[in-house]
Formats: sequence, C-alpha cells, structure tokens
Amino acid sequence: MTESPQVITIDGPAASGKSTIGKLVAERLGFVYLDTGAMYRAVTLAALQRGVDTNDAMAVSDIARHVRLDLRTPTLEEADGRQYTVLLDGEDVTWEIRAPRVDRHVSAVAAHGGVREAMVAQQQRIGQQGAVVMVGRDIGTVVMPDAPLKIYLDASLEERAHRRYLEAVARGERLDYEQLLAAMRKRDAYDGSRDHSPMRAAADAIQLSSTGLSISEVVDAVLVLAAERLRRPVTG
Ligand code: CDP
Repeated sequence: MTESPQVITIDGPAASGKSTIGKLVAERLGFVYLDTGAMYRAVTLAALQRGVDTNDAMAVSDIARHVRLDLRTPTLEEADGRQYTVLLDGEDVTWEIRAPRVDRHVSAVAAHGGVREAMVAQQQRIGQQGAVVMVGRDIGTVVMPDAPLKIYLDASLEERAHRRYLEAVARGERLDYEQLLAAMRKRDAYDGSRDHSPMRAAADAIQLSSTGLSISEVVDAVLVLAAERLRRPVTG
C-alpha cells in the first residue's frame, strides 16, 4: 500500500487566515510551509513587469513556465516581519507581490490553465516530499487530493477585509476600506467561478470558520486534527 504524504492542506478565500494559521501550524509540527498564493502573485508581478496583458493566456503561461520562483526562510538581514522570502528570478519581491496592482490582476493570471499546470507541478513536487503545510485555493481538491488532513478556512467578508486593512495600515500604507472590501469580494467571486480548479472545499475537507476566533484557537483546532489524522513517523 502506498502511503499518502504527510501533508496538511488549507484552502479558503482571501484573508481567511490561511497564511497565519498555516505558518504557525507548520512551525509547531516542524513542517515546511508553502503559500501557493505567493507563487501566483509572483507570476503576476513578472507579467506586469514585462508589460504583458494578464488576460493573454499564452503569454502569461509562457512566463509561468520560465520564471524561477524560490520561497525560502528569511535570512537575518531580511527579517522585517515577513513570513518568508519570495525570489523572482533571484530578485527579492516579497513585499512587491502584495501591492494592490498585483491584487487586481492575480485572479486573471491564476485562471489560465497553462499557469496552473506550471504551478501545480512545482507544488506537487514539494508536497510529495511530505511534512508540508500547503495553503491556497485548490490544494485539497487538485494539488494534493490524497492529503490526510484538509482544512477549508473561512470567515465573513467584512472580517477578512478588516484584517487586510489593518495589515496594510501596520505596513504604513493608506487605503480605502470600502475599495478593499469591493476588490476582495470581486476576487473571491472570480476565484470561485473560474473554469480551471475553482476555489472550493474538497468533499472530505473539514470546514472551519475563523470569524470571532483568535489565531491560537484556530491553530489549536488544526493541531488536534493533525494529531488524529497524521500518522507519526515510526522511529528506531
Ligand atoms: O492572501 P490572499 O488570500 O489575499 O491571496 P493569496 O492566497 O495570496 O492568493 C492570491 C490569488 O492567487 C488568489 O486570489 C487566487 O486567484 C490565486 N490562487 C489560486 O488560484 N490558487 C492557489 N492555490 C492559490 C492562490
């Protein structure tokens, strides 16, 4: 019998808490943490930097196949509150991929089948090595469908928009809350209705709502599930 790799998948809409929860759960378990959204964001930035129309499926897919993406633990010099460092062809784009213009274009980029193929292949290579917490939109449904623990994390739109607003303010950015809320609603609708791997909970995913819950409450809930679902490696 082949064993499914030790992978926890966390899917859900924008700012549902996937990244924060995923990172903390990975730290507690000593697992690798992979934020697949950062990969789609980096491809989006690459297309924008090259002046490519993000609706041009052929051109954007070609970029996705050829860019070099590295997500790694920040070095001491890089530590500025970031969860990880994102390198696009060797250049540090960790904060640039969070810019509003990337937010506006990323859903169109992520909807192209060619882009998804290139990203999913890389994600599956990492997932097969096991001991990974992978977060995104289609991880439980498409990327790692055999994962032993799949979470679908949600929260109300207002709470999610509020969190993103506070994050931006903490970074010293000024933005309009109503605009952010409208953009988030639009991105969720787009991600949930696209033809290729739309965002949805896997049939066997455990649905958690983080509305009104603290971060540590959600982390603890996932850790309890992990202890039940993930077989501990046999030692000795
Ligand atoms: O952090 P936030 O929830 O705002 O978004 P993200 O996880 O960084 O993802 C950005 C965008 O990438 C999403 O709106 C999706 O369009 C796309 N994405 C995807 O299609 N599949 C994934 N596995 C992850 C992200």
